[in-house]
Amino acid sequence: MKLSERMEKALNDQVKKEFYSAYLYLSMSAYCESLGYSGFANWLKKQAQEEMEHAMKLYDYIFERRGRVILEAIDKPPSDWKDLVDVFENVLKHEEGVTDSIYKLMELAKEERDYATESMLKWFVDEQVEEEASADEILQKLKMVGENKNALFSLDRALSQR
Ligand code: FEO
Repeated sequence: MKLSERMEKALNDQVKKEFYSAYLYLSMSAYCESLGYSGFANWLKKQAQEEMEHAMKLYDYIFERRGRVILEAIDKPPSDWKDLVDVFENVLKHEEGVTDSIYKLMELAKEERDYATESMLKWFVDEQVEEEASADEILQKLKMVGENKNALFSLDRALSQR
């Protein structure tokens, strides 16, 4: 069954949101790099790559369902934050927003009895649990580290392993 017009539009919108996520995290990565935190920068750069994979997963799915992908303009992301805690608070907040938009897509799929889209979106529902958990884990560690430069250095080094 072909995607409904409404679902096609909603999925296209999510493609744009995933690309924006990539853009946002790459901008955060550049900010961390500029401060000399190459481990945090590495983690965020990898996260940006994951977001592009999310976008492409939706992109391919739209075509599989005989829909059409229309790429929209991606907003300019912020380029400055107060500190690392601020960065990761914003990662978590952003992921909560993404979760909300995945849930809205799921509601639309249910409403339209589009079981194929519902099944595809389950992967995203599970992924969001992981995404929020990993952002929160880093945020909690950063808060624990506080002003301790040695602990911050170790955390930065650990994140360079991702
Ligand atoms: Fe694509 Fe981080 O959610």
